[in-house]
Amino acid sequence: MSNEKIPTTRLGENGPEVGVQGLGCMGMSFAYGPTTDTDEARATLERALELGVTLYDTADAYGNGDNEEFIAPFIQAHREEVRVATKFGIVNDPEDLWKRTIRNDRPYLRQAVEASLRRLGVEQIDLYYMHRLQPGVPIEETVGAMAELVTEGKVKQLGLSEVTAEELRRAHAVHPIAAVQSEWSLFSRDIESQVVPAARELGVTLVAYSPLGRGFLTGAFVDAQKELGADDWRSTHPRFTGENAAANAALLEPLRVIAERHGVTLAQVALAWVQQRAEVHRMSVLPIPGTRKRSRLAENVGATRLVLGAEELAALEPIAGQVSGNRYGDMSFTSAGRE
Ligand SMILES: NC(=O)c1ccc[n+]([C@@H]2O[C@H](COP(=O)([O-])OP(=O)(O)OC[C@H]3O[C@@H](n4cnc5c(N)ncnc54)[C@H](OP(=O)(O)O)[C@@H]3O)[C@@H](O)[C@H]2O)c1
Repeated sequence: MSNEKIPTTRLGENGPEVGVQGLGCMGMSFAYGPTTDTDEARATLERALELGVTLYDTADAYGNGDNEEFIAPFIQAHREEVRVATKFGIVNDPEDLWKRTIRNDRPYLRQAVEASLRRLGVEQIDLYYMHRLQPGVPIEETVGAMAELVTEGKVKQLGLSEVTAEELRRAHAVHPIAAVQSEWSLFSRDIESQVVPAARELGVTLVAYSPLGRGFLTGAFVDAQKELGADDWRSTHPRFTGENAAANAALLEPLRVIAERHGVTLAQVALAWVQQRAEVHRMSVLPIPGTRKRSRLAENVGATRLVLGAEELAALEPIAGQVSGNRYGDMSFTSAGRE
């Protein structure tokens, strides 16, 4: 198997070079069904680094700190080579697995950053995101409080997740924002109208989460309720159940045709499409596919070498407009819900 390292991209206007694909670590502890062969997940982290993946994405909300703790030994063992991105702002309800509230206030932020630093066992978080915007809390206040963490050396760079273009501009005026993290895939393209142009203009890297459509674009499942079970968040997802799921599965046909032509997988076509947004929009784009398995990691990293031609891109173009069901049950959880 090739040990060739992936290319790099800049994380934020004056930021460091990082591998052009990151690793989403959420599924190692949270959201996507019963965890996980932990030895295999640890081996996946190590293999990712060997292949040039240097940005590792987690959040305090992923398993109430479990995910930060899970990746901590890996981060500590490779502190000089890797960058860890974590997030604050989503508070899980201990009684209800899928119920969440949002907190952005300064006292909460101060407590959250200390807890993340402790769980990760690092002195500085490389990229610290506001995970969601709390309605009624001005983003200037939150980013002002986050900027204090940079001054104090607890955090290196700032990021925002699922913000609108307007919120990004207001935040960037308070302190440079290195990255916006939003859902971006063949199925989810709402950020292209406003968020993407604003990020390009400000020199902000677009970190694309769920670039595999939470696995749906790989063809690994169709109806989440029937195939994945109630402890998998996707079984509550409007796109992945019942009639919507069946209709959406039919949209994968152009990916199949392209995958067959190149002798690659659907996952690789889906990831190459996201990666090529960098050229299309002339900006830094960094997908963070999540996997717990080395075989899938190798596949995903391999997608950085796949280039889709103009006709192939054209065949994929209509898909997002035909998807049935929203990308969240509650769209106020997304930037599109506030645009
Ligand atoms: N900011 C936010 O609000 C937000 C929201 C969601 C996610 N995220 C971040 O983004 C990361 C990635 O997003 P995601 O995990 O939601 O979705 P994703 O990357 O689109 O898909 C992950 C799913 O696809 C499967 N998979 C991965 N590679 C595959 C392949 N080559 N073939 C078949 N199946 C494959 C994974 O299963 P296995 O693990 O079993 O391989 C997992 O179930 C997360 O880990 C998290 O760090 C952020």
